[in-house]
Amino acid sequence: MHPPLWRGDSRRTRVGDMHQDEPRDSEYSPRTNAFQTLLDKIYFHRLPAYGNTIFYGLGFLALTCLVLLAASGMTLAFMGQAWWLANPLGIYVRSLHLWTVQAFIFILILHALVGFATSAFRKPRRMVWVFGAIIFCLVLIQTEFGYGLRGDFESQFRAVSGADFWNGAYLGNLMNPLSHLQEFALHVAIIPITILLLFIAHYLLVHTYGISRPYREDITVPLVPADHRVMYARGVALITLIAILAFFFHSPYVKAITIADVAREKPALVAANLQAEFDRTSDTATYFDSMDPYTFDTRQVYVLMPYTLVTGADAATSSSVMIAALMPAIRNGIYESILTSADPVPDTYALRFLSDMNVFETKASSLNMSTAQWGMIKDETGSTAKLPPGSWWLIPLGVVNSAFDLLHNSAGDRIAGEILGFVMFLFITFPYIPYLNRLPEKLGLAPFIWRRGKKT
Ligand code: HEM
Repeated sequence: MHPPLWRGDSRRTRVGDMHQDEPRDSEYSPRTNAFQTLLDKIYFHRLPAYGNTIFYGLGFLALTCLVLLAASGMTLAFMGQAWWLANPLGIYVRSLHLWTVQAFIFILILHALVGFATSAFRKPRRMVWVFGAIIFCLVLIQTEFGYGLRGDFESQFRAVSGADFWNGAYLGNLMNPLSHLQEFALHVAIIPITILLLFIAHYLLVHTYGISRPYREDITVPLVPADHRVMYARGVALITLIAILAFFFHSPYVKAITIADVAREKPALVAANLQAEFDRTSDTATYFDSMDPYTFDTRQVYVLMPYTLVTGADAATSSSVMIAALMPAIRNGIYESILTSADPVPDTYALRFLSDMNVFETKASSLNMSTAQWGMIKDETGSTAKLPPGSWWLIPLGVVNSAFDLLHNSAGDRIAGEILGFVMFLFITFPYIPYLNRLPEKLGLAPFIWRRGKKT
């Protein structure tokens, strides 16, 4: 006999109640289908009547998104950037990936709200919430690295702003969006695998304990067979909707800025910036934001080293002679290639050089997507109305920025990092916080959910 598992709930139940229809070992024969066996092991077989409603279908829809993200993401990584930026099928798969992210985050928010409203994080299910909440925070971080990999203007702008944010939050040595390789490793392997492991822990716990039962004595709900057909039908409807949206509304693309472009349009700006790098007065040379990961010598990297490589001569005595000699190589793109190949952490040198000329900020402002314009929540056309939407899930960051006037504060990134870190900490540890964790009971939203569903 199983011990009761619902120590925190007023009504206790047993693991066996939830899995009554699962075949026992003795029922397996040489003809048993292995895949059916796996599904039987994974499925919920009996649920409280409300368990078949959409409120409890959200976890499966989140999983559907996760699978779709993995499939489209692996295709993109396999085919490469040129394919996803230019090939019509590549653009479609990229759009599918982006729309799935939109759906995923929306569904996760609803899923967490259901868990919150029904106090589904009570003992012994507290770690179910904790694993889920860590997944949510990782998903938000993951989206930024995704934008960084796209390979267009938004990638550059977000990489530079993101690096600033992590430096401000003291985490710049660990999280560096300027490093293309690190972004790739984080977005394609490290974060997805962590999310997968956390999801397995999350699901194994819910599957073992069963979905939470009403904690109120006056609400009784019978157990009914789980309706897997409806569950899959919802999954198919979601995939169809995402596929249609991706077909009509493509993931945006605004050409990346190169140093050569700037040199052709504004040669004086590039020359002035080279001089500032040589004088070690540029933004990179004088950078400090809680920490300074840009410890390379800007004179050596941006002037002396390229000058020697381009001319084959030793450094000239005058900086203006070297700058003049570099300009043709800058215009034809050789200079940027030199920076990239000499860079121990590509694309730090090129992105910092562009950032020093303020071209990202200028272009972002002209597109209505600078941080002061709440650009993080807009798409690349600087519109909040266009489809697919921008990263609306960063609205809290915009709120924190304006509520505390952080954009005009030299410690703004650090303060924003501390506030958001604190909010994430509260969100993750919520089930363990006395008094606060009783809030959903006080709000009394749960009966609305518990009284749904057919009592067959
Ligand atoms: C990859 C992301 C996630 C996936 C795939 C996922 C999947 C699931 C599934 C399949 C269930 C069981 C059925 C259901 O209640 O829908 C579940 C339950 C649960 N999830 Fe998640 N989840 C994810 C993220 C989250 C997040 C972000 C939270 C909240 C912070 C969360 C909190 C919960 C809770 C509290 C339950 C228990 C519900 C109950 O016992 O009544 N999950 N999850």
